[in-house]
Amino acid sequence: MADVRVMKEKEQETEVNEAQIAVHWKEEQYFYPSSKFIGQAYLTDPAVDQRFSEKNFPECFREYADLLSWDQYWHTTLDTSDAPFWKWYAGGKLNASYNCIDRHLEQYRNKAAFVFVGEPEDVPPLSITYQELYYQVNEMAALLRDFGGLKAGDRVTIHMPVVPELPITMLACARLGVIHSVVFGGFSGEACGMRAADSGSKVLVTIDGYYRSGAMTDHKEKADIAVKTAKDEKHTIEKVLVWHREPGKYNSKTPMVEGRDFFVEDVLKKYAGQIVEPVPMPSEAPLFLMYTSGTTGRPKGCQHGTGGYLSYVAGTTKYIQDLHPTDVYWCMADIGWITGHSYIVYGPLALAATSVLYEGVPNYPDAGRPWRVAKRLNVNIFHTSPTAIRMLRKAGPDEPAKYDYHFKHMTTVGEPIEPEVWKWYHEVVGKGEAVIVDTWWQTETGGFLCSTKPAIDPMKPGSAGPALPGIYPVIFDEEGKEVKGGSGKAGNICIRNPWPGMFQTIYGDRDRFVAQYYRKYNKNPKSKDWRDWPYFAGDGAVQAPDGYFRILGRVDDVINVAGHRLGTKELESACLTVNEVAEAAVIPVVDEVKGRVPEVYVSLKPGQHNATAVSEAVTKAIEHQIGKIARPKKVHVVPDMPKTRSGKIMRRVLAAISNQMDTGDVTTLANPDVVEQIRVMVQGNRPVITKDVPEDVKRFGEER
Ligand code: PRX
Repeated sequence: MADVRVMKEKEQETEVNEAQIAVHWKEEQYFYPSSKFIGQAYLTDPAVDQRFSEKNFPECFREYADLLSWDQYWHTTLDTSDAPFWKWYAGGKLNASYNCIDRHLEQYRNKAAFVFVGEPEDVPPLSITYQELYYQVNEMAALLRDFGGLKAGDRVTIHMPVVPELPITMLACARLGVIHSVVFGGFSGEACGMRAADSGSKVLVTIDGYYRSGAMTDHKEKADIAVKTAKDEKHTIEKVLVWHREPGKYNSKTPMVEGRDFFVEDVLKKYAGQIVEPVPMPSEAPLFLMYTSGTTGRPKGCQHGTGGYLSYVAGTTKYIQDLHPTDVYWCMADIGWITGHSYIVYGPLALAATSVLYEGVPNYPDAGRPWRVAKRLNVNIFHTSPTAIRMLRKAGPDEPAKYDYHFKHMTTVGEPIEPEVWKWYHEVVGKGEAVIVDTWWQTETGGFLCSTKPAIDPMKPGSAGPALPGIYPVIFDEEGKEVKGGSGKAGNICIRNPWPGMFQTIYGDRDRFVAQYYRKYNKNPKSKDWRDWPYFAGDGAVQAPDGYFRILGRVDDVINVAGHRLGTKELESACLTVNEVAEAAVIPVVDEVKGRVPEVYVSLKPGQHNATAVSEAVTKAIEHQIGKIARPKKVHVVPDMPKTRSGKIMRRVLAAISNQMDTGDVTTLANPDVVEQIRVMVQGNRPVITKDVPEDVKRFGEER
């Protein structure tokens, strides 16, 4: 622990300078892992950083690939010949389903792979052993191949909540080399249809319904909308495969469409007991697509490969989650997001762990639910988001103490966590015993980029920590000049090197991939040298003198709502589908629980005056086209938008107004009077706050 002492001394020397105040930086005290945790941890040797240092790159990442079983060993660790489309472990072949199931059978056949906890509390948890998973995945693979007509390289859209049939379907696809594209269950049918069309999925896998906040949700109805939306996009979904939430019972009011819709339960009978040999896939074959929001209206399909992705999630699950086969691990995320793919399904299963699946909302029927689940299942590793922590803290600050569970390790992911929320997580949820990792990463990055190494680095509330082994971040200013660590200045965090978990491309759009992630800081577009291609993450960050990174939030038009990315352009285009709306602007507002929530400003077409009806229609349009998670906090119908002389809507000014900030100098705008009108309308006589406004909100809508 020598490094820890050095860091502690450094911390005491740290002075808060002006620039740090500018980003509201306050150095927090370190917290240390217990000797009990260190004594059992996988990664305790600080030499790992040397092992993964630049001089050993890229060969250092052999260590992660060696956690997997390869049908054919690779010949080139990193192939940069088509930069920046990196190929990891080139020449290798493997199957992800084999790596997550078959190879564990000999040793762990009767161990639970998944324990499913449905939302209704009166139904006991369901354990699925590796042996059982093997059977169910094989049967589903046989169905997808022989009934679905699917083969390696085809895409399948899966629109499902967190139930065992979701990872079963994903792993069945992986067994065949079919590329799955899971759409978050809470997204609307329309959002699902757009994604199915973009990926060219001929098969949609869905479910009749599921439990959410105490009620059965009709989910199948979304499939019908998805098929129609895809058709409008000139794409045909030929088959809709419908799982049952409860065997033998159809939980939807929506009729099945003859010849198009099929119950999996019925068709599966034909494939009972069938075994499908896992198809050895080239390392760089795509494993899945995960759609995420960006700066333009259309979500982009992030394409992840097989060998690189699986190696990276296995390596980071082992070292950062410290996940042993004897642990019971519960990540409370939804499998429909990248966190669920990497750290509920692929990472834990690659390591033969027991992974808990929870269907419902964390506080159903009350804020004690997660802690009852933890006790009953003997969960010892827990993983969730700051939004869930804030929500549980608000609803039941004393609940965790009532239940006799013990976590050795806890994760937070998806948003910056406020130090006081972190401390509640540590003291109350973790009972002061659990180590915490604050993991910074993205849909695009496949796995963690920054986090403390749990048995090696001390924790600092509110800071993600140093980079992971083999990840070399840098902070650049807008001109590409490096912002030095310890300078207290913020900038754009980039990763200088490729890593195996990095996504391969935006599905079907190589140009957009290069433009969005590399063009900004690329030194030479023809270069085959990875050093010329820093990855632009789209987040603002500051690096403290101890090397820890504090992530400040998005620097683009993306709003992080409860840890979920929403593109403001997507919301704005939904608003514009309302007939009366002439112009729309969406901005982030600070929210006590969800971090940020969207607020909408619309101006109406001439002759339109019914503000109440328009507000309602706008909210409906957003829910319909994206989903309830995007529901705006408020819709403001304004006389006109604040605009520059060239006609650009000044979203920065609207964000300032909604967040009770000073609007700054608006005299150069084309219509400064409108700003004052809107300000009075929204802020009224409430005091203007200029302190403690988060950086992403302050900078939102800036010209860049
Ligand atoms: O802004 C960062 C924030 O979430 C974004 C990525 O969102 P998504 O692709 O949906 O993936 C979420 C789960 C990995 C990032 O650009 N973010 C993620 N983790 C953190 C974070 N912000 C602060 N601290 C984190 N630990």
